[in-house]
Amino acid sequence: MWGGRFADGPSALMREINASIAFDKRLWQQDIAASRAHAAMLSAQGIISQEDADAIEEGLDRIADEYEEGGVTEDASLEDIHMHVEHRLTQLIGPAAGRLHTARSRNDQVATDFKLWVREAIDDVTEELRRLQDALVDRAEEHVESVMPGFTHLQVAQPVTLGHHLMAYYEMLRRDRSRFVDARTRLNECPLGAAALAGTSFPIDRAAVALALGFDRPTANSLDSVSDRDFALDYLMAATQCALHLSRLAEEFILWASQPFGFIALPDAYSTGSSIMPQKRNPDAAELVRGHSGRIAGAMTALVMVMKGLPLAYSKDMQDDKQPVFEAHDLLALSIAAISGMVETVEFQTERMREAAASGHSTATDLADWLVRVAKVPFREAHHITGRAVQMADQLGKPLWELPGDALREIDPRLDEQLLSVLSVDASVRSRTSHGGTAPDAVRGRIAAARKALELDA
Ligand code: ARG
Repeated sequence: MWGGRFADGPSALMREINASIAFDKRLWQQDIAASRAHAAMLSAQGIISQEDADAIEEGLDRIADEYEEGGVTEDASLEDIHMHVEHRLTQLIGPAAGRLHTARSRNDQVATDFKLWVREAIDDVTEELRRLQDALVDRAEEHVESVMPGFTHLQVAQPVTLGHHLMAYYEMLRRDRSRFVDARTRLNECPLGAAALAGTSFPIDRAAVALALGFDRPTANSLDSVSDRDFALDYLMAATQCALHLSRLAEEFILWASQPFGFIALPDAYSTGSSIMPQKRNPDAAELVRGHSGRIAGAMTALVMVMKGLPLAYSKDMQDDKQPVFEAHDLLALSIAAISGMVETVEFQTERMREAAASGHSTATDLADWLVRVAKVPFREAHHITGRAVQMADQLGKPLWELPGDALREIDPRLDEQLLSVLSVDASVRSRTSHGGTAPDAVRGRIAAARKALELDA
């Protein structure tokens, strides 16, 4: 299709390195949609005849049916999806097919096709993330009173509720979704009509094409239009951050499912056995979500490196933009689905969690806070006194709330048995009523707000 000025055809190797059909065939629907919009505009503007436009339209319909049924038949000598469609169109309708490429180039064509594809990918992901958020909110509500250890440095720190813990992931995903929504808004300008790089001398109507393809407006600069891959990078960066969040939840599930923790039983549907150890039950799905996050971040880095330092406008390097996005999207979709399934069905061992929440003197802060509140001791001094109480409890081999009265008074005369009631894990979580805190009532409030927000953007 570009052989006019060449005496010899490309070498086999050139064909091989040049061909992108093996992966860009995933753009066939977008390519046909963009060609339809372009042909309709060309005839509306009197650039091609209505007759030719009708023939093109019919031919494109037929190709769409063929691809739908039998997939795209690959021919490496036809390089990419754009040439495959045009070639087949020529076979079907003859020379009129050659008019479709008036006032456009593969450079603006591929940018348009790819944007349409990424836009759909974003819509899919935001929808799937919603399902996961729904699942998290449901499980959080169920466990709004279930006490578990809250960790810092993976050391038991203070008791929290499982509902609160799950809602932390809801918040992460809320930010992820807003990043995807943001990326979609920024993406939604149509590059078609920028032609090769400089625009075109034909009297095209770019606004009409943009509208027909669901874009908000045409892009403003033809050079930028054909060389911009920000939309793909925006997608990959949002995907990376989302995958990082999923990997953290996956990691917690893996830890929690291990015997020393025993916080959860992962359902059979998301576990595998071992071929040698009959007792084993491995959290493979969670481990793969954790692994996939690395590959998604790798895909993001790949495209960053491909784009780095490219001069304006289009360079063939940019053909390498698609595989990272396709790979990341497939992995992310699978990861979200797997994590959703796990969240929906995981069994929380709340008794075991409650026991663990009480370990490690997790309510020592509550003792210090009591000294500040009731005995008006400055916090720093209260911290010190509490340290001595922890030491004493360890010496006696008791939890803080079982310290005898005389031991308390020995540590500090301002301590008395009244304070013991604030040291249970339940009293501790109930007292954390500050905005965003772990108290069941605070978490209930956040859950109600989350449900409302999820309904609103359904
Ligand atoms: N297959 C190419 C790509 O994906 C389409 C654009 C080709 N443009 C060109 N001037 N060779 O980037």
